[in-house]
Amino acid sequence: MKENKFEFQYEVYEDISQLTERDAWLLKEAKTVTDQAYAPYSNFHVGAVAMLENGEVVAGTNQENASYPVGICAERVLLGTVATVHPKVPISSIAISYNSEEVKSDHPIFPCGMCRQALLEYETRLKKPIRLILGGMEGKVYIIKTASLLLPFAFTRNELI
Ligand code: THU
Repeated sequence: MKENKFEFQYEVYEDISQLTERDAWLLKEAKTVTDQAYAPYSNFHVGAVAMLENGEVVAGTNQENASYPVGICAERVLLGTVATVHPKVPISSIAISYNSEEVKSDHPIFPCGMCRQALLEYETRLKKPIRLILGGMEGKVYIIKTASLLLPFAFTRNELI
């Protein structure tokens, strides 16, 4: 028997002021776009904004539904939009933020399991790592150099061919 260990590195910034101008701008866009979330059930407004390799910027927000499972996370709304509007352009970075009247927005949140799976497949589809910039309305910001780090032992299309 052999025990293996999985670990990964990520960057931690005290707040948005420590980011590069470009990353800070993208995270601010993610904060602003939370206003467009449709989240009357959770009151948890999520914004995800992608910087594409060609400089285009695309946003997504969570869209809930009275039939709860129908709701879609901001990240998958974003990926679907990018794939449709700029199908061949890889995503360089995605900034994700959130706002809520009920809970504090003072730390980063991470994409849910389903979104991690979707992000991983987008990386392999466009053959380009997607950098994640994660931060609330205030407080620490995390940067993860490729979204697939969040989903070790992923199930991928390689298993199906
Ligand atoms: N949500 C996202 O949009 N992205 C995440 O990374 C986590 C959760 C949404 C789903 C739901 O509309 C609300 O946040 C509360 O779970």
